[in-house]
Amino acid sequence: MALKIAVVGMGYVGLTTAVCLAKLGNDVVGVDKDARKVKMLKGGKLPIYEPGLYDLFRQVVNSEKLVFEESIPRAIENVGVIFICVGTPSLSDGTADLSQVEEVARTISENLDSYRLIVEKSTVPVNTAKWIRRTIELYSKGRSVEFDVASNPEFLREGRAVEDFFHPDRIVIGVDSERAKKLLLELYSPIDTKVLVVDIPTAELIKHASNSFLALKISFINMIADLCDKTGADVKMVADGMGLDKRIGRAFLDAGLGYGGSCFPKDTKALFRIGESYHLDFGLLKAVDVINQGRVERFIEKVKDALWVLKDKVIAVWGLSFKPDTDDIREAPSIRIVRRLLEEGASLRLFDPKAMENVKRVFPPSGRLLYVNDMYEAVDGANALLIVTEWNEFKTADLRKVASYMKTPVVVDGRNIFEPEEVKKHNIFYYSMGRGKSA
Ligand code: UGA
Repeated sequence: MALKIAVVGMGYVGLTTAVCLAKLGNDVVGVDKDARKVKMLKGGKLPIYEPGLYDLFRQVVNSEKLVFEESIPRAIENVGVIFICVGTPSLSDGTADLSQVEEVARTISENLDSYRLIVEKSTVPVNTAKWIRRTIELYSKGRSVEFDVASNPEFLREGRAVEDFFHPDRIVIGVDSERAKKLLLELYSPIDTKVLVVDIPTAELIKHASNSFLALKISFINMIADLCDKTGADVKMVADGMGLDKRIGRAFLDAGLGYGGSCFPKDTKALFRIGESYHLDFGLLKAVDVINQGRVERFIEKVKDALWVLKDKVIAVWGLSFKPDTDDIREAPSIRIVRRLLEEGASLRLFDPKAMENVKRVFPPSGRLLYVNDMYEAVDGANALLIVTEWNEFKTADLRKVASYMKTPVVVDGRNIFEPEEVKKHNIFYYSMGRGKSA
């Protein structure tokens, strides 16, 4: 049976959730207080790039399964389920800022006239649902309001969000009432996967623990990569060897420039703070963050190992988004790398298939900073090529052409996309992460 749903917050998670829930046949209202974003969505444009999302968006908007609103009170008027997908950014000490969640809870409370199921999808600290419940009760000022709060964390990855929505590894549902459980099970019944029904704090913690564990795997392999650089071992082979053990698994053991994006950096810091707030030693997560922060400087050291002096060198950068298949540059290593290279006095030629417009807002083009529309144009006359994001088109680049275009054939590969033997065939000086100091 189709449900009437409001999705509050039209960021990556909210928008994908709204589009995909509408595709499942539900009647969805997407709401965001950012009037500009709502106008854009109403005008048939997506504010983000996400593979496969645009086609689905067109379909569900054309069939009026998905509409958009600026006002939460109007959006929740006739719906049965409200998904909260607003941002939970980091405060300066790493704690999650829950002011947007609280604001939504207040607004819902003031406009509650009959039963609603309120589902938190944003990544939130354990026990946030209790605060949502309390806030709704507080602001209802004695009116009898009927509602449930549930947790249904999102595990989608940017760049694969649509695929992840329809084919997830699992769906986690945290509930404390039969009514909420029934509604959510019904909502997800078209999706064929394991559904884990747990209590609400457990569901909330599954999300934070999963993201922090994946970040931990990445920092662990980056720590090992540093040792490989010192000893001549090959981190890719170390990861392959570890990954063959089914208890470990090969995924998320790719060494390089570390994790970025809007989730891992924020969530590891937030979980560290949560542990601390209960007087627990979560120093392990502090170490994960410290190792990750150190990646850019390790990379810059390699560029210096290759070129010695960076002042007045022309450096090409391939890849600016925090990972491939997205235009998202939040916490992308590229931002810190560009800043450091400019400080060192280098001239940069930047290329990314999708993220250049976003980076231009941070670093407007200038005499020492050019954005080019072709990856080979970027290396033309360059002293070094830096690989910062592992887009597929870079992996299959014509290295003969690259070498012949460059002034000095140096490649510093922050994502280990090439095989050293292959690159050396083209007389390129090749530096990568955790596979010996230089080539
Ligand atoms: C991550 C989780 O994977 C999702 O399950 C979760 O829903 C999402 O956060 C979220 O909380 O919303 P995402 O941030 O889109 O998804 O990106 P990932 O594909 O997980 O990659 C995160 C970062 O780790 C990227 O910067 C990537 O380059 C880096 N990474 C990943 C490595 O450095 N090495 C690896 O082996 C894997």
